[in-house]
Amino acid sequence: MIRTTYHKCLQGRKRAMKMLKNMLQERRAKPSRLQSDFYDYVLEELQKEGTVLTAAIALDLMFVLLFASFETTSLALTAAVKFLSDHPRVLEQLEEEHQTILKQREDPNSGVTWKEYKSMTFTFQFINETVRLANIVPGIFRKALREINFKGYTIPAGWAIMVCPPAVHLNPAKYRDPLAFNPWRWEGMESNGASKHFMAFGGGMRFCVGTEFTKVQMAIFLHCLVTKHRWQVIKGGNIVRTPGLQYPNGFHIQITEKGLQKHEPEQTSM
Ligand code: HEM
Repeated sequence: MIRTTYHKCLQGRKRAMKMLKNMLQERRAKPSRLQSDFYDYVLEELQKEGTVLTAAIALDLMFVLLFASFETTSLALTAAVKFLSDHPRVLEQLEEEHQTILKQREDPNSGVTWKEYKSMTFTFQFINETVRLANIVPGIFRKALREINFKGYTIPAGWAIMVCPPAVHLNPAKYRDPLAFNPWRWEGMESNGASKHFMAFGGGMRFCVGTEFTKVQMAIFLHCLVTKHRWQVIKGGNIVRTPGLQYPNGFHIQITEKGLQKHEPEQTSM
């Protein structure tokens, strides 16, 4: 029997679904009084009277979220550190933005405030450029609800459409020198998350629900990284697309705390 990649994916999905189903059963049998994670919230919703959620939908949701929330942000952050390592001028400006925030902070012991977060102009340019070039989601699917005529082509009603964000993000008519990593290209541009020329987080009715969360997570990570640490690339960092973004040999960096004279560096594989 030939085991295709697709077949292996189906088997993997089956195994993952079985694990999630067991977890659901365990938690139903022994419900915790405190909601400790998202699964507990799903369970609570499932038990509400008149809910539209079924166990099958809940399990599907949990399965999708494993990819949607974990794989995406970790890939984006890895790409971000790689871009920073390859572009010292970008790192310099990012550091400057975050050092200014620290200098102006009234209470040196406070965490990042909402006002500080909203002031991270260059950080948002950097995040936009990272997700534009990273093209973490290589395809978005839609269904033609009615016949569509587009540039002389007809898409019959009911057909599946695959939108390809990389084709949009690397379009030289919209992005000058599209393969260059250039956060400054976003200067003065309103970034509301989605447009015809920027769809790293999708668009329309199925626009990524995690977009703002991702931006907060990335901005806070970058804030801590550039204000408290320095790092050195050890190995890896090669990028392949299969078609998703992958680092076949990982991306290994050595992180040291800023300001510490003698410190045993941690080696981190991203
Ligand atoms: C760099 C990080 C991320 C990227 C690049 C990304 C990208 C996307 C894209 C392209 C879509 C498809 C939208 C469409 O079909 O138009 C999507 C959907 C979705 N994303 Fe994200 N995402 C990220 C992070 C997250 C996070 C952190 C979460 C959850 C905490 C999340 C949850 C979802 C969900 C639930 C959907 C489905 C929305 C729906 O179908 O209505 N994503 N994401």
